[in-house]
Amino acid sequence: MEVNKISEGKTKIVYDFDKDHVLLRFKDDITAGDGQKKDILEGKGVLNAQTSAFFFRLLERYGIETHYVGMKDERTMIVKRLKMIPVEVVVRNIATGSIVKRLPIKEGEVFEPPIVEFFLKDDLRHDPLLNYYHMEHLKLMSRKEAQYIEDIMIKVNDILSSFIKNKGLILYDFKLEFGRLDDKLVIGDEISLDSMRIRNANSRIFDKDLYRKGYDLKTVKASYEEFLKIITS
Ligand code: CDP
Repeated sequence: MEVNKISEGKTKIVYDFDKDHVLLRFKDDITAGDGQKKDILEGKGVLNAQTSAFFFRLLERYGIETHYVGMKDERTMIVKRLKMIPVEVVVRNIATGSIVKRLPIKEGEVFEPPIVEFFLKDDLRHDPLLNYYHMEHLKLMSRKEAQYIEDIMIKVNDILSSFIKNKGLILYDFKLEFGRLDDKLVIGDEISLDSMRIRNANSRIFDKDLYRKGYDLKTVKASYEEFLKIITS
């Protein structure tokens, strides 16, 4: 059976499924630096699909609506057809990554309360930071929608960080993307080690920072595997 490809990104492919659903196939590609650095990590698509499915199911159990419906195969999700908003929404509990380069904030500073940030999905412009005015002008979302998304981000952060804490690990930050289903805002995309930063109390890194920092692919893969095992056991 020929399935119709709707779009392809750096790590996932979207296929037509039925009127209200699409398929999201997780590739084995791993990228960093707006796609500048790129490799194939065999089996990574399955790991990220499984990790994402696990977190989407967890959020759904807490009454947070996501696009997740079920699995078509081990690396392909059936998801609700959304009109995606090209914005990345980040919550930070502990400072690392772009924020310590952009602002006079030191690596490891704790954010109480957590910080929510919006970025435009635009690799050529290196995903610039957005405020409410930018998002209204660019017709991305209204201020009211942005504030609603901030509330969801804080709820999701509470759920994910306490879950991860119970597993003996620490959620530094994570990114979500949202889409519209009629007039509702629903969480789309993925929740995996590509989109979150997880460390332990000794600052051991579990997430894509291993790849960003140049660790070998075997180490990256082993860490993704270990994390999936930790959350599912
Ligand atoms: O990753 P980078 O240091 O460039 O950006 P960041 O703003 O510090 O990233 C915050 C969080 O969003 C991290 O968990 C990243 O993995 C995630 N992120 C992502 O999933 N996709 C991006 N294009 C940028 C960040």
